[in-house]
Amino acid sequence: MFRSVRGMKDLYGRESDKFDFILSKFKSVGERYGFGMIYTPILEYTDVFLRSIGDETDVVSKEMYTFLDKGEESVTLRPEGTAGVIRAVVCEHMDQCLPVKLMYCGEMFRYDRPQKGRFRQFRQFGLEYIGDKSPHTDAITIAIAADCIRSIGFFDFKISLNSLGDDETRENYTKAIVKYFSRHEDRLSDESKSRLRKNPLRILDSKDKQDIEICSMAPILMDYLSKESRTYFNRVCSLLGDYEINYEIDNFLVRGLDYYSHTAFEIHPTAGSYREALGGGGRYDKLLSIFGGQEASGIGFAIGIERLMFLMDEFFTQQKKRKVAVVPVSEAETSTAFAIFRDLQNCQIASEFIHLGNLGKKMKIADRLGCDIAIIIGENEIQSKTVTLKFMNNREAENKNKTVRGADLIQFLRTTLDNQPACT
Ligand code: HAM
Repeated sequence: MFRSVRGMKDLYGRESDKFDFILSKFKSVGERYGFGMIYTPILEYTDVFLRSIGDETDVVSKEMYTFLDKGEESVTLRPEGTAGVIRAVVCEHMDQCLPVKLMYCGEMFRYDRPQKGRFRQFRQFGLEYIGDKSPHTDAITIAIAADCIRSIGFFDFKISLNSLGDDETRENYTKAIVKYFSRHEDRLSDESKSRLRKNPLRILDSKDKQDIEICSMAPILMDYLSKESRTYFNRVCSLLGDYEINYEIDNFLVRGLDYYSHTAFEIHPTAGSYREALGGGGRYDKLLSIFGGQEASGIGFAIGIERLMFLMDEFFTQQKKRKVAVVPVSEAETSTAFAIFRDLQNCQIASEFIHLGNLGKKMKIADRLGCDIAIIIGENEIQSKTVTLKFMNNREAENKNKTVRGADLIQFLRTTLDNQPACT
């Protein structure tokens, strides 16, 4: 038997419905705030990620799917969306006319250990607000992330916030943590020992138990914020208060990617047992210039769609679009039933035409396909120009069967099925 690659899932049926539902909600939130879609290639030259995400990060050093293509060029399946979007903004000269507001959704690839809510191929919805550096933009971007998650009916989450400050801040902070971690070097993991020399900030990201314990007593970045960075961050916090967005400051939030400066944030669920990040983002000052573009700053976030799909199972049932099955009793009624099915589709009523097997089998298929009402057409119905409706879900089960005149069918279904769009 063939199987899919470890950590990569087929999405179909209820899962793909959930995916489409989340994406359509997120896209309409993005549109409401003035963002347009961008689709970038899934494959980029490896340098795009090395230069932006940073070669000491877990994502670059351990998790990238990198290979030589047939022309011997090193290419990488994108592990995240921001680098490719900023590369595109510069390549397509979108940075000549700022601000640029782009949103995206697509597959990302990280070679990590698969577990609950963690896959090797997963999907992110993200957006990038480029070329408008002000605390208002930071607050708006965080508000959009919160609005996205609320738009699917999920409210049990918290926003963790930190500032990574400017270059001066990180320089002073790096000196302080190098001093601190050097004192504990013999207890650090081998990886953190090597990061102490190459990129000490990344030690704060370590998943090693002993490293985490040592990190908990490390100096905090907030104490090293330059005057400008502190003023900026205080303003972001007060604007979030004005927007009535709840947040808590997390002094150790450094994010797993190197490109951030100033505001950094993450969103975590607060109900149930699952506590991994649903999304995260922050401001970046250097990305555009790394790709040869304008010296402009941006801010963005990405939300992991599979993680929300997982929570949807735990916390709420999705509003399913209701549909009907058109069922001829025998071959003799097939063409009449087919004409009714076409009428329903012309009137945009979600419907299935079911004609395989005997009546019992047809009803089973209708049930399996999730139909709420079966429209049964037999000899008697054709003679009396009526149809028999069988209500298939619990809510209407007590209504039993109902006979409706053929001429009244569309009107009847419109008032019975919720949310059916009007016939155009
Ligand atoms: P990130 O925190 O690496 O940020 O990923 C964002 C979200 O993607 C995570 O919070 C999580 O929900 C989801 N995610 C990450 N890895 C996996 C995985 N292996 N399986 C399932 N879901 C996963 C970024 O990617 C940045 N590009 C966000 C950003 C945009 N920053 C600025 N603009």
